[in-house]
Amino acid sequence: MKVMTVFGTRPEAIKMAPLVKALNETEGIESVLCVTAQHREMLDQVLELFQLVPDYDLNIMKPNQTISQITSNVLVGLEEVLKKEKPDVVLVHGDTTTTFAAGLASFYQQIKVGHVEAGLRTYDKYSPYPEEMNRVLTGHLADFHFAPTERNKNNLLRESINENIIYITGNTVIDALLEVVEKPYEFEDETLKKINFEQRRVITVTCHRRENLGENMENIFGAIRRLAEEFDDVEIIYPMHMNPKVRETANKILNGVPRVHLIDPLQYQPFVNLMAKSFFIITDSGGMQEEAPALGKPVLVVRKETERPEAVEAGTAKLAGIDLETIYAMSKELLVNQAAYDEMAHAVNPYGDGHACERIVKAIKAYGEKSTNSN
Ligand code: UD1
Ligand code: UDP
Repeated sequence: MKVMTVFGTRPEAIKMAPLVKALNETEGIESVLCVTAQHREMLDQVLELFQLVPDYDLNIMKPNQTISQITSNVLVGLEEVLKKEKPDVVLVHGDTTTTFAAGLASFYQQIKVGHVEAGLRTYDKYSPYPEEMNRVLTGHLADFHFAPTERNKNNLLRESINENIIYITGNTVIDALLEVVEKPYEFEDETLKKINFEQRRVITVTCHRRENLGENMENIFGAIRRLAEEFDDVEIIYPMHMNPKVRETANKILNGVPRVHLIDPLQYQPFVNLMAKSFFIITDSGGMQEEAPALGKPVLVVRKETERPEAVEAGTAKLAGIDLETIYAMSKELLVNQAAYDEMAHAVNPYGDGHACERIVKAIKAYGEKSTNSN
């Protein structure tokens, strides 16, 4: 049985790396890896860390690329690869444009699609944009749905997806996280090496969502600037996404502000260890809403909604929205109110036990054996 895994961005690579490794080690499965390289440097960092060598690299990234460009380049690029390789199943992950376009390209070749991290929903078509729709559309192209949680499964059932093809697996991000988090951890990055994590309170920040570009991002960075100016025992570390639009706004508002460190994206291993040593986290990232609870770190989510309410229910994540005053006030509360901080800072893990990949491989193998027997 031939299984092709397709991904293109940093978070997909992190969450699919342990799965590709598991597929590579499974007898009876020929595993092929195709990257679209919707991201370039940020993807390559992950490939290097997990020692993955793609069989195909579509190398599509263009500076300031549009969603239509990504979609059409993945569709056209993958057509050729799929025709040549003829996999039995294509695995895609999550909600990026690579995910949706790879699912569509596979459907056009009548190849079965397995959707990893299926069933998350905000029910708002434009938030996150275009991710909510990418995930919904991929869900309707998929033949197997690997849902991290029971809630994700129920979302799919409400859309009349057949229960027999939904598998609750946990999120593969926990598999990846457990592989790389280490104690004690020594940083190699020059900025991080100089920070005294015992005496300073570190706030780790990331921000990149398309719907936050522009005014929302200015509000978010404005709140961060105020925090840095007001609290002199705080260090703010912001490994900036490579998106030039994000960097421009971040540099405009945060460059030169005392105690704010604008650095390049970190390799996954130092990054999660930075999260583990942080006081709390401010982010609009999806994946970090899953990692932070597992690490027991409070997260303020700078978005209007989340498709990951499990972390909010568990108490470690709060929606802070995109208003400057609210983000500032909620952050300040964590810095001045010990009880409020303690209430959020506990390790819970609604997203799995680190064995998600095993469950996915098992389901794929069972499908392969069933189809062989019926031929
Ligand atoms: C993409 C995904 C988003 C995901 C995010 C994770 C879409 C539409 N968006 O958003 O769902 O949450 O990745 O980070 O699928 N760039 C580089 N080098 C890199 C990566 C990006 O230079 O390694 C720059 C390029 O100029 C590129 C721009 O960033 O054009 C934006 O990248 P793109 O993949 O289009 O969007 P993201 O905002 O990264
Ligand atoms: N991450 C990383 N280096 C960084 C910032 C984030 O490795 O400098 C990791 C983070 O731990 C998480 C993933 O990248 O696993 C999140 O990616 P991103 O925020 O780009 O996408 P999203 O999670 O929003 O889809």
